[in-house]
Amino acid sequence: MDKIRVKGGNELSGEIKISAAKNSVLPIIAASILGNDKVKINNAPMLEDVYVICNVLEELGCNISLDKSSKSITVDSCNIKPINANNELVKKMRASFLIMGPMLSRLGYCKLSLPGGCNIGSRPIDLHLKGFKALGADIEIGHGYVEARAKKLIANRIYLDFPSVGATENIIMASVFAKGTTIIENAAEEPEIKDLADFLNSMGAMIDGAGRGKIIIEGVDSLKGTEHTPIYDRIEAGTFMIAGAITHSKIKVMGINEEHLRPVIEKLKESGVKIEVSEEEQSIVVDGRNIIKSVDIKTMPYPGFPTDMQAQMMSLLALANGVSVITETVFENRFMHVSELARMGANVKIDGRTALIEGVPKITGCEVKATDLRAGAALIIAGLSAEGETDVTDIYHIDRGYVDIEKKLRSIGADIERYSVD
Ligand code: EPZ
Repeated sequence: MDKIRVKGGNELSGEIKISAAKNSVLPIIAASILGNDKVKINNAPMLEDVYVICNVLEELGCNISLDKSSKSITVDSCNIKPINANNELVKKMRASFLIMGPMLSRLGYCKLSLPGGCNIGSRPIDLHLKGFKALGADIEIGHGYVEARAKKLIANRIYLDFPSVGATENIIMASVFAKGTTIIENAAEEPEIKDLADFLNSMGAMIDGAGRGKIIIEGVDSLKGTEHTPIYDRIEAGTFMIAGAITHSKIKVMGINEEHLRPVIEKLKESGVKIEVSEEEQSIVVDGRNIIKSVDIKTMPYPGFPTDMQAQMMSLLALANGVSVITETVFENRFMHVSELARMGANVKIDGRTALIEGVPKITGCEVKATDLRAGAALIIAGLSAEGETDVTDIYHIDRGYVDIEKKLRSIGADIERYSVD
């Protein structure tokens, strides 16, 4: 098992390069099976979750070539076939469920193991299934599997009770060949949704309104191959911006889209961090050399403050001047990092979905455990500022969503290393 050891106290400086968005690449790889010709994805982040979904597509009979040096992934799905449902890989990653929509469109059939919950919540799929049924699919659930069949998918109007990112993506992919006009209302507006739509439209799909709450999909007969470069990872960028703030450093983050980062930029400014965006360079300079003030955060679907930045922000606010309130409205159990931060000396009280963070003058390093992807990142950030050494265990969670996090932080002056323990 690997661990990451951080020695706190270093001031950071220099530039850090952001990778392409994990939460864009995963649905895009799933969507690539809709093409009747090769699809090439450039600048793909070489992450554990990317390898898992590529392996799932290979189980489907797709021919995948993944070039780690050029960071490109080519998918040829001409020999695709129904998946063996009890595929261990599908159980390994929830995002594999994103192949159900494209499989329904492509083959009219898909049987997958029910994606389990995870540490942050029960992660139901009822909205995905509501969309598939509305498009004419028959859904059967039993023995831990979901089986979906559709001789013909017919367009329909679908209202999402919650703007679910995955359900929006799966329904878009299930409706691209559905005869007629499909309308998704109360759709998720995350930038990754628009990136998926841009990808599909470059293959010949007719999707309008992605990135807004109402998406209109005109069914087409087929999709061709394409080449696509995904958007930057706004959550990775936000994570490193907070690393700059918590260490009272001035750093430049290369590879950002200001609009995608608006909620994070505004909250950091409110906490006293100086922010300078360069549109043409697609970069942002973060200057955290001021005192960090307490702020209140409420996580919301985009364009609200992202739930995926909640843990990282809590690490910063644990050292802010004053009392901050964080309300987590998206997932029901996303405060697993609180007990780990408390071991470092943070003063956080939880009441249901609300956390009260009383800033403390310092936190101290110790052994802490990553409980999920973003909690792990938050603990590394806390370690950058803690007195002494912080050992973060279970870092496989972190490797699912961050490319070379310790190398990137070391490149801007952090005293951080990955080491193996048997
Ligand atoms: C995506 O997960 C992201 N993952 C998550 O990122 C992110 O936290 C989340 O969107 C919210 O932004 C990927 O894109 C691979 P949701 P997803 O469906 O699609 C409820 C990370 O750290 N819900 O928008 O699973 C659900 O219970 C990960 O990178 C239903 O009730 O999120 C949750 O409370 C973590 N029924 C809320 O919606 C459904 O059918 C948000 O879930 C589906 C969801």
